[in-house]
Amino acid sequence: MRIMTRRVAGLDAVGWNRQARTEVVEVFDTLAPEWHTRSSPQRTAVVLDAFERGLGGKTDNSHLAIEVGSGIGIYSALIADRYDCVLSVDVSAEMVRHAPAGPSYRVLADSGLLPIPDRSADAVIAINAFLFPHEVSRVLVVGGKLIWVNSSGEETPIHLSTEDVVAVLPFPVEGRESRAGAGTWCVLRRTG
Ligand SMILES: C[S@@+](CC[C@H](N)C(=O)[O-])C[C@H]1O[C@@H](n2cnc3c(N)ncnc32)[C@H](O)[C@@H]1O
Repeated sequence: MRIMTRRVAGLDAVGWNRQARTEVVEVFDTLAPEWHTRSSPQRTAVVLDAFERGLGGKTDNSHLAIEVGSGIGIYSALIADRYDCVLSVDVSAEMVRHAPAGPSYRVLADSGLLPIPDRSADAVIAINAFLFPHEVSRVLVVGGKLIWVNSSGEETPIHLSTEDVVAVLPFPVEGRESRAGAGTWCVLRRTG
């Protein structure tokens, strides 16, 4: 997953392709039935900390959030508390099948090709999920936020440092990063 994380982010040459997607779907389809065992109050606290200290109070531009790599939807309701409309996207049919209906809209799709128009998202939220920098750039409005959370910090299989995240984004950002327990997060606002 570490190698794939870097490939997807454009930090390694090979990139994301059909074969990579097939391999990733196979892994997560298999993990889906037991994914609920990875939920814990400590992990939820990392996400809540990113929202509370990274985002502050609910702001005007909190209409549409895209939750990429949403898995079985452990964090979808927390996101829906913050945003008027949440689209939760996952490429694994089994993950989507194990997720609850609502409060977010849930779709089976590839985060590398999000089913939404250009510049339509106020936030892209990636919790232990791959970062597709050019797709984030396509969908995120100026002023919108990228929220990047690694529940187990550097030990998270899908982990990138804030420096790496900022380096691969093809647009300028400002924001903050922090730690919460074992987890790490950054909230980056698009400035141009
Ligand atoms: C490590 S899990 C994290 C799930 C959830 N965010 C959590 O923290 O519980 C990564 C998720 O990303 C999904 N995923 C992997 N590649 C994806 C892609 N290209 N598009 C959408 N989802 C993807 C996997 O199917 C899996 O559900």
